[in-house]
Amino acid sequence: LIAVLHVSALQLSLRGHVLSKRSHISGLDNGQNLRYLTNFTLGGNQYSASIDTGSSDLWVAGVVPNSNDTGVSTSVQYAIGAISGPIKSAPLSFLDFNVPDQAFIQVNASATYPDGRGLIGLGPNVGSNIHGALKKQFRGDTVLDRIFLQNLTTPNILTILLSRSESSFEQYPGEITVSDIIPGMENITNQPQLPVTTNPSSRSGNQHWQVLLDPDGIIGPDGQPIVSQTTVSSTKDVSQLTAIFDTDFTFNQVPRHISDAIYSRFPGAQFDNNTATGPMWTLPCTTEVNATIQFGNMSYPIHPLDINFSFTDSSNSSEDQTCYGAFQPITTGASPDYDIIFGMAFLRNVYLLINYGDYVDGAKTKASPYVQLLSTTDPASAHRNFINVRLNGTDTTGSQMFAAAPSSSGGDLNDIHKPSHRAKKTATIVGAVTGTIFLVAVCVIAFFTYRRRQRRRLAPATDLSTANTGSAFHDTAYRPLLLPAPPGEFNPVLGY
Ligand SMILES: *[C@@H]1O[C@H](CO)[C@@H](O)[C@H](O)[C@H]1NC(C)=O
Ligand SMILES: *[C@@H]1O[C@H](CO)[C@@H](O)[C@H](O)[C@H]1NC(C)=O
Ligand SMILES: *[C@@H]1O[C@H](CO)[C@@H](O)[C@H](O)[C@H]1NC(C)=O
Ligand SMILES: *[C@@H]1O[C@H](CO)[C@@H](O)[C@H](O)[C@H]1NC(C)=O
Repeated sequence: LIAVLHVSALQLSLRGHVLSKRSHISGLDNGQNLRYLTNFTLGGNQYSASIDTGSSDLWVAGVVPNSNDTGVSTSVQYAIGAISGPIKSAPLSFLDFNVPDQAFIQVNASATYPDGRGLIGLGPNVGSNIHGALKKQFRGDTVLDRIFLQNLTTPNILTILLSRSESSFEQYPGEITVSDIIPGMENITNQPQLPVTTNPSSRSGNQHWQVLLDPDGIIGPDGQPIVSQTTVSSTKDVSQLTAIFDTDFTFNQVPRHISDAIYSRFPGAQFDNNTATGPMWTLPCTTEVNATIQFGNMSYPIHPLDINFSFTDSSNSSEDQTCYGAFQPITTGASPDYDIIFGMAFLRNVYLLINYGDYVDGAKTKASPYVQLLSTTDPASAHRNFINVRLNGTDTTGSQMFAAAPSSSGGDLNDIHKPSHRAKKTATIVGAVTGTIFLVAVCVIAFFTYRRRQRRRLAPATDLSTANTGSAFHDTAYRPLLLPAPPGEFNPVLGY
């Protein structure tokens, strides 16, 4: 896999065209993960940086000319890896915007972080470690906040389009715009505005561009919603998962039961605890898997090439090749603040717009941030595309096998079929009634057991005899239900 990625990286001798507020970005791997890169200048030097909607800090590797030291240092922990160094400031040019004294972290150049490389965090200011470390004293706002503050009348929007390519010279093309929309994609402003949910103030540093999916908003390969439950405690409707959009992830990170529901029913699908990529499903490249994500009552179909993923589609692929299930069980990036990270394998199916709203400090008109998504995948042409790329043009997907029930492979929720709302409601009522009857029965039994034991204890003869027959053992091992629980059991669980 790593070798394959390096080959595609070497092929990237493309020419980026820079329009006014818009720039070409292109995918490049770092040996572990696909990166989308853009160019900017800092202190007069050109840098090539990953664009990362999942973090909020700017850093570059190597010594930046014409920079000022703020005397403060900080570090940033990523899902994979961490950086640290002094916070400096220097004039920045990004797209056609100039920021006179942009704060950034200067990282020592190394094999992992070569001179001239860097990362531009496009997340909210409140999630920026530079912003946190500098407080207000040195203008530690993120690159985009600095840009937005320069002109309060332009819209505070970032848009990203990650595209699909038939060309082996540029497998992972993309566009990024600030305060502008890609021509021909204007319809994005008519899409539902998905409010960015807010972390509790104690966890504001982990704020991302995060939105709620619709209830049970992932439609599996059988066309049925995958029953889901969020782990984000502040979400009112537990069937709504919270997702963040992260251009710095290749594969979508989802709860384990969702990846099981998507892949486990296909013949040849295997759960592989791969040391290089982390645990994920693998399956034959010829298997067509469909799935759709729902936000704001809109459906966003995912291209089958992005669900059963191959790094080598542009070259000749052989019949029995193994591909990667790009809905990967979340491990390293997991957080109590979201359930899902949508990476490239989702973002190639939408045009993403983030309206930064009032996360911009000092803006005159305050508005809440939101996300808009315009679907870019047509299921019918995606299906034809899949047949051409993976099946040499012959549609054999009709004879594809699909097991009736998902295999139980350790997921927390194994049921794939969502009961109808009515059935769900009936089940809830039946459950509640049964539960109540059961509870009452337990209480009654417990009460009589307790009474009987108390009576026995009052009789000295019984007491002596039971002491030698083992009943005394039971008296200490099982605490009667009517007694209060031991104090330890009321202690709150700390951490998460
Ligand atoms: C960044 O700059 C390099 C060197 O000028 C150029 O080869 C590359 O195409 C540029 N990348 C993008 C995405 O514009
Ligand atoms: C701010 O943006 C508006 C609209 O894009 C533009 O007309 C105006 O000239 C800009 N102002 C400055 C000071 O650049
Ligand atoms: C994968 O392997 C790692 C280390 O070998 C282990 O800690 C982890 O629990 C495994 N994960 C699964 C899902 O089996
Ligand atoms: C996937 O979706 C396409 C488009 O709706 C459909 O034509 C195709 O039959 C589906 N494939 C499978 C295996 O369900």
